Amino acid sequence: ATTRTFSIIKPDATRRNLTGAVTRMLEEAGLRVVASKRIHMTKDQAEGFYAVHKERPFFNDLVSFMISGPVVVQVLEGEDAVKRNRDIMGATNPENAEPGTIRKELAESIEANSVHGSDSDENAKIEIDYFFKPEEIVG
Ligand code: CMP
Repeated sequence: ATTRTFSIIKPDATRRNLTGAVTRMLEEAGLRVVASKRIHMTKDQAEGFYAVHKERPFFNDLVSFMISGPVVVQVLEGEDAVKRNRDIMGATNPENAEPGTIRKELAESIEANSVHGSDSDENAKIEIDYFFKPEEIVG
């Protein structure tokens, strides 16, 4: 089925001017960008977005990193969008990611791993709603 997922192009990628390179890889994987905006997340926004990781040892570093520069938040649409996006992103740690994936080709480290993608349809809806109003999504 055609579904939607939520993506973030992270500060390590915007800093290196890789917004286009990442988006191109998403598009070549069969995903369509139906909403996109460049934002600088506030600390509150980042903490809220990553609330599920609050107890993890890397939480504070993760939040600091995500507010260290601009990000591009996107809604992606396609056949099985969540899985398709996770496949093209590759493993969380770029060292473990398959060749040809965004993280293998572009990411710097497990923290500065260039992209975020929703891990389920349920979370995709929550994450899309966190950053986008319905009228900002144009399918
Ligand atoms: P993301 O998909 O955005 O979801 C949580 C993020 O936490 C993850 O990508 C990584 O950037 C980061 N992360 C996960 N595990 C670690 C770790 N062990 N050390 C630092 N950052 C991590």
